[in-house]
Amino acid sequence: MTRLTINDRDVTVASGEDTPLLWVIRDELGLTGTKFGCGIGLCGACTVHVDGRAIRSCITPVAAVAGARVTTIEGLDPAGAHPLQKAWVETQAPQCGYCQSGQIMQAATLLKDFPDPSDRDIDAVMGGNLCRCMAYVRIRKAIKLAAA
Ligand code: FES
Repeated sequence: MTRLTINDRDVTVASGEDTPLLWVIRDELGLTGTKFGCGIGLCGACTVHVDGRAIRSCITPVAAVAGARVTTIEGLDPAGAHPLQKAWVETQAPQCGYCQSGQIMQAATLLKDFPDPSDRDIDAVMGGNLCRCMAYVRIRKAIKLAAA
């Protein structure tokens, strides 16, 4: 049993302590906005926030976030009105969409550190979030719109 706060809700999860946070989020808590891509920390599809910082949930044992505050795409703004979410819609950033929740969660921490990010800032922070559709130009545009 591990206690954590997820999207401002205190929960106790039954999954084993070594279970990756990704599967706790998806399978035990039913929050399927966070995606499985590679499972080895290389693609960013599974990005969530732990105490406000982006992490890869596929390689994070749930025990490692005991007592922490976890935020998934569903909790970033429950109304879907976060500036990044609005910018994503306005710029039609996604193509297939699969990686986009991870992209948005990574971008949210980018904007905390770089409120007016340059292309170099965006590339440095977002470079580990892969998009098989190659929507990188639109993602960059959406991030800049959200920052404006
Ligand atoms: Fe976690 Fe790819 S699924 S980084």
